[in-house]
Amino acid sequence: MTRRLGPLTPALIPALLLPLLSAPPAGAAEPAPQATAKSSLVAAFTLVAPPSVAASQLVTRAVTTGGPCPTLDVIYSNKSKKSLPMSVRSRPGNTGSYFTDVKVCSRAVPSTTKSASVSGRRVPATLSSNIRRMALFADTGCRISEYKGNYEVQRCDQPNDPTRGWPLNSIAKAIAADKPDVILNPGDYFYREADCPVGLFTWAQAACGTSPDVPVSGYPFKDSAAGWRADVFTPMAPLFPVAPIAMLRGNHEACDRGGNGFFYFLDPRPTTSNTCAPVIVNGQRQAPGPATTATWSATLDLIQGRSLKIAMVDSAYGNDLAVTPWAKTQQASYASAAAQTKPTAGQESWLLTHRPVIGHNSRWTSADQTAAAQGLLDNYNLVLSSHIHFTQAIKIPTLPPSLIMGNGGTSLDRNPGTMTTPLQSQGTMYQMATTDWTVARWGYAIATAGSQSRQWTITHKDQNGSPFAKCALKSRTMTCS
Ligand SMILES: [Fe+2]
Repeated sequence: MTRRLGPLTPALIPALLLPLLSAPPAGAAEPAPQATAKSSLVAAFTLVAPPSVAASQLVTRAVTTGGPCPTLDVIYSNKSKKSLPMSVRSRPGNTGSYFTDVKVCSRAVPSTTKSASVSGRRVPATLSSNIRRMALFADTGCRISEYKGNYEVQRCDQPNDPTRGWPLNSIAKAIAADKPDVILNPGDYFYREADCPVGLFTWAQAACGTSPDVPVSGYPFKDSAAGWRADVFTPMAPLFPVAPIAMLRGNHEACDRGGNGFFYFLDPRPTTSNTCAPVIVNGQRQAPGPATTATWSATLDLIQGRSLKIAMVDSAYGNDLAVTPWAKTQQASYASAAAQTKPTAGQESWLLTHRPVIGHNSRWTSADQTAAAQGLLDNYNLVLSSHIHFTQAIKIPTLPPSLIMGNGGTSLDRNPGTMTTPLQSQGTMYQMATTDWTVARWGYAIATAGSQSRQWTITHKDQNGSPFAKCALKSRTMTCS
């Protein structure tokens, strides 16, 4: 595997060199965090969280280069000010030096907060009680992958290249310009899973200029703090002051891929950061085996007194093509989501799950999820997923509409056209889809709440914020054009 040999900026040196040191023996004490002359803020953002974590349903995170945690500086509704201590989020264990060049600090946002900042940088401090516009985007990272010597490399340095580029920063700027009230991201953030193949492509050095080398042998995962900076914190920076973000885990955040960073940085729950920490088996580090984390939910107060429950299902694992025993394990997550979205007067519900329950490329996918969710989808007005790299809307009679937003910046998949065979799962053959719409184009969507319950207009926009299509969502129907 070819390693990058190009110039190193001072900011990249610690991130790049530390992983190249020989791996310490499994079980050895974790290295101490680097001494940092002066701590600086890498990113500050606010996550949507379950009410059991924060009454406000908001948690602010600060990612710094070290030193003491900054304070969350709040101005309350009564105009009084306070600097609230943030607490250190524990670093995932057994990850060597791959996460020691950052520190993560966290704080639940008090319900009575009007505005807030970290180290002078504004962070969202309220979840609007009149949410009207929500941004939807996912599958965002710059793909650098290798399988048996074959590389797939996106040009991470080219936001405007229409085929091989990486438009995430443009998408983030366009979303920010739209000023949504909240942002929903159903997962797959981390795509830099191989070293930059500089020896194979003459342009690769520039294209991968900010990509760190992947962990060396002995570490059963692909991510690092430097990789998360390149794939998420730098390109998504325009979004962070704008609105709280509901972040969901994708299969790229499985424990043998980018899971350590997801749980350290983006999962809103206080005790999850060690979920993907390697375990020691026979003296070797191994990624924890497949397991889901508990389904959680949050309530979004919309305009017109409407209320939207979002249920967040971890579908990092499972087989897309065939039903396997995993479906039984995964079923508990969908049963929990159904229990958390029990119909109540005035409430509408969306299910967020990374792998589609109802969606297709050239075949219906994802088989394990479809089977696991079977019979548990009656509560939803929409299923929001990603995983396949385009935008797609499917409506099958008796099932909720499904919207796939996998066009957030990573390499696009080919548009498969419409399906000529009905969805089948576990002996049930569904009716043919009445809506089967796909566009393979980078971008995001803005869902605007209508004046009546369960009505939304979902405007699809390209990476520059120009609209290219619209979907009308009414109760459990959806049409797009
Ligand atoms: Fe995925």
